[in-house]
Amino acid sequence: MLQTEKQYVQWLENKNGSESLYTARWLSASNHTPPARIVLVDDKTTADEAYRLACEGTSLLWRGDFHNARQLLQALKRRIERTNERSQQRKMKKAAKANESAKSTTDSVAIPNLFHQQRQIQAQRSRILSRLLLELDADYVSKLRRAPDVSAACMAAFGQLDKAMDESCVLSFRDLQGALGAAQWREKGVPIESLGISIYPHYGVFAPTRHEYVQLLLDAPLPAVNDIAYDIGTGTGLLAIILAQRGINQVIATDLNPSALACANENFTRQGLSNVQLQQADLYPTDAPLANLIVCNPPWLPAKPSSPLEYAVYDANSAMLRGLLQGAQQHLAEQGKVWLILSDLAEHLQLRTRDDLLGWFADSDLAVKYRLDTKPKHGRSQDDTDPLFAARSAEVTSLWCLQRI
Ligand SMILES: C[S@@+](CC[C@H](N)C(=O)[O-])C[C@H]1O[C@@H](n2cnc3c(N)ncnc32)[C@H](O)[C@@H]1O
Repeated sequence: MLQTEKQYVQWLENKNGSESLYTARWLSASNHTPPARIVLVDDKTTADEAYRLACEGTSLLWRGDFHNARQLLQALKRRIERTNERSQQRKMKKAAKANESAKSTTDSVAIPNLFHQQRQIQAQRSRILSRLLLELDADYVSKLRRAPDVSAACMAAFGQLDKAMDESCVLSFRDLQGALGAAQWREKGVPIESLGISIYPHYGVFAPTRHEYVQLLLDAPLPAVNDIAYDIGTGTGLLAIILAQRGINQVIATDLNPSALACANENFTRQGLSNVQLQQADLYPTDAPLANLIVCNPPWLPAKPSSPLEYAVYDANSAMLRGLLQGAQQHLAEQGKVWLILSDLAEHLQLRTRDDLLGWFADSDLAVKYRLDTKPKHGRSQDDTDPLFAARSAEVTSLWCLQRI
């Protein structure tokens, strides 16, 4: 998951009585550019001071106790939340005033704006929190007091550093926490109750923690001929595993993300599957036999991903969704079917209409044979303090079964 081109950060530090310029490799899971201004901070730095510096765009290289840095991060989060709440209240008051003077134009303007505002707030929050940094050596070992062993988690997330060059690295505590969380998931797995198995996600691969749609794939009647199926955008390989378990003879799974392919491969091996092949491909596999079934759970929100980790959720201009539909005819066998798994959250956020979707089906010469629906049960759909609660609580995820017109 490292950026292909190496990037470096520099800072001034007084070690053994003399100040020198130090350099380290820059790692950022969110593709943040290397910080231009770094100051050293430690246990004596107050949360207010750290927050002020981070908001001003200064990055903070931590030299204190490892656990105190975690507490500082929590304190920064609380300060961001307080600031956001105040600005949210101001915006709500402003919106209420505007609505009073123009009652007719309310929701249709407000909801997509609210969604984009929420994304901006999240991006700003991520930028501020990512300014608390730590240094690790070429083996991903931290020299901070009470630092845990993070090397295996970092190696899995970011890959090998150049040990020959004794290359130390600097990354944000936030990215380190992401790598540690991913390592735990990879070790313990995500239980998929309806299948009676666990799936082991890798760092940077869409983790199926919301998996209500699995039941849809278990309930949908299989096409009469089921020799070959494709799983487009396989991620951890979950859907390919369901297809193989349901008795499809050969499953060909694709993804653009090489980490997803490695992850899916591990999950297939754990399940003892030998009839699933993997291909790195943009949508459809090449040199593959025509499919009796094409399954895809594409990123469900039509908006630009702001970091590599968001590619599983955001699909700019619905490019993957439309590409999948446009290519279906060419890859389907006679009587073949498409199972498209898609949340309608984008419709509730007014980022796409139902007519858009139905129009894309028709433009691709695909007709709806049937649709199965499920309501998401995840925490965010039930959080009534979320400004997008109305849209999230109305969300329905569907399996659209499509066939040639
Ligand atoms: C929402 S995730 C679904 C993952 C998995 N199928 C599941 O249901 O858990 C979407 C997946 O599509 C992949 N993807 C996005 N664009 C793609 C493309 N053009 N071709 C192949 N895969 C793509 C992403 O890397 C991601 O793994």
